Amino acid sequence: MTATRLVPSPVNTVTRFRDDVLSGLSRKQKWLPAKYFYDPLGSSLFDRITELDEYYPTRTELAIMQAHVSAMATRCGKNCLLVELGAGSLLKVRLLLDQLDRPAGFVPVDVSGEHLRASAKELTADYPDIPVYPVVADFCRSFEIPSIDADRRVVYFPGSTIGNFDPPDAARLMRSVARMVGPGGGLLLGVDLRKDPAVLERAYNDAEGVTACFNLNLLTRINRELGADFDPASFRHRAFYNRDLYRIEMHLVSSVDQSVNLSGRTFHFRADESIHTENSYKHDTGELTHRAEDWGFRVDQTWTDKAGYFAVIYLTAPDK
Ligand code: TRP
Repeated sequence: MTATRLVPSPVNTVTRFRDDVLSGLSRKQKWLPAKYFYDPLGSSLFDRITELDEYYPTRTELAIMQAHVSAMATRCGKNCLLVELGAGSLLKVRLLLDQLDRPAGFVPVDVSGEHLRASAKELTADYPDIPVYPVVADFCRSFEIPSIDADRRVVYFPGSTIGNFDPPDAARLMRSVARMVGPGGGLLLGVDLRKDPAVLERAYNDAEGVTACFNLNLLTRINRELGADFDPASFRHRAFYNRDLYRIEMHLVSSVDQSVNLSGRTFHFRADESIHTENSYKHDTGELTHRAEDWGFRVDQTWTDKAGYFAVIYLTAPDK
């Protein structure tokens, strides 16, 4: 099939989901891609995570934005085209849109067409002078930005989502962002910083168990959408900081010896065997300065909170 579609057909989406799950569960260290967390229940559980006492990143990033948004907008300059990867909560981008000097437009990019349309509608009502050009795409794959006339393109990538990519994948994504914004273009990046492992581990092991539900919901979704027979009650959430690789790892650990069936295949789990579901890399500003060069960017300015928990960084793709 070679036809180009703006919106992926449901059949392709389910087929890809099934293929990803089958190949992930076939690995020695069983693995499931984190992007499948976000079905409607997963998205609402994620919203609850961002409000938990233990989960400091969202509120810390928001506070940094609130304190420094006018300096950030100055970096973006007048008449910029702002592109957001993953149209998350509108809260943070609104701060920017409030401050930008006559922006050429706003391009939210998201896999969920529904979520995108709702956000675009809300923004258009509140910012009638800013044209919104939603793009339905999985930004991990290639996608195109509408060619809108602007003095500069700036990509906004908040939430330390970059930390959910392994370094080579992060580099691939950031290089494509550098190409997309072109020389002189910008990248406003939110990153979670390295800190006391106890603080990190608390953030991903909340007392209420919301993060555990979020993680386990992946199995329920696989049962519902792909017809598997996971018993979610026999798996438990496990999140820990891997100090060698500077990342939080999330796993689903089988409590017992068991088998799970999916699409005519059987997957065996030993007691205590895990499925690795997500990584959240933690960064260091010195390390990022180096990596940025490899991505085709230069760090221009870094804003952080008093405790140094989180950073928002403005990077520029240098003129050739
Ligand atoms: N990128 C954020 C982080 O790594 C948010 C996030 C993504 C998250 N997946 C998650 C938070 C799973 C908790 C659990 O922290």
